[in-house]
Amino acid sequence: MKLAISGKGGVGKSTVAAMFAHLAVADGLRVLAIDADPDANLAAALGLPEAQRRGLVPLAARRALIEQRTGAKVKQYGQMFKLNPDVADIAEKESAEFRGVHLLVLGAIEGGGSGCACPESVLLRALLMDVVLYKDDCVILDFEAGLEHLGRATAQGVDLMVVVVEPGRRSVETAASVRRMAGEIGVRRYAIIGNKVASEADRAFLESALAGEDYLGGLPFSETIRRADRENLPLVDIIEEPLRAQFCDVWEKVKERAAR
Ligand SMILES: Nc1ncnc2c1ncn2[C@@H]1O[C@H](COP(=O)(O)OP(=O)(O)OP(=O)(O)O)[C@@H](O)[C@H]1O
Ligand SMILES: [Mg+2]
Repeated sequence: MKLAISGKGGVGKSTVAAMFAHLAVADGLRVLAIDADPDANLAAALGLPEAQRRGLVPLAARRALIEQRTGAKVKQYGQMFKLNPDVADIAEKESAEFRGVHLLVLGAIEGGGSGCACPESVLLRALLMDVVLYKDDCVILDFEAGLEHLGRATAQGVDLMVVVVEPGRRSVETAASVRRMAGEIGVRRYAIIGNKVASEADRAFLESALAGEDYLGGLPFSETIRRADRENLPLVDIIEEPLRAQFCDVWEKVKERAAR
């Protein structure tokens, strides 16, 4: 199962991606979580201990690895390099492991942008294509709204794009633009999750703003989620009812959509 999570900044993408990753481990799946957001915070959302987090070096900053695999020097222009670097072992070798979740942090490409043909970008795209098309793990991709690094070939291997929205016009508009972009590059299936729903008015807003969409339901604004963040704890360890049941319900729907 290959899932991509996206949405506007701060809506709760990493919180949702991390919780799904822990739930997938509980389901007995082999889980690879990939932080593809240049402003990476999936490790924190997963609850990785501080020391382990400090040891994480994003792949985009792994100069020796990039140069070895692409045959090109980072930050030198006009060189020839391999457009199909060997990346098959990277997920296995370079990921951190925490509570059964294997985590890869892609990192930001300086002065890059999605169309960039620099060695870093070529390596990251090749890696995503490899894990999405050729690995059989449960892959959970935490993306910013721009979907950088998600090329057409890779997009076609994504079973479901989950867009997280909060009750507000702007995040709903971002969801619409993510949907457009995702459609353009060939993502086949798309669903929306509401998050930080704090009132009946919020709930009603999302219901009406998302009418006609595949809306899987809204997760409440939660003090437990805030606490998990403040105290650097995996949410899955401290989550209580009814929030757990609500998360599990959304997770079941996600799996059902992804399997269609
Ligand atoms: N349902 C919720 N209730 C309360 N706080 C929440 C909820 N979901 C997420 N948060 C908090 O909102 C903040 C942003 O969440 P998170 O980092 O998951 O969002 P994000 O979309 O990944 O952000 P970014 O765009 O910066 O990567 C965090 O402090 C998180 O703890
Ligand atoms: Mg995030």
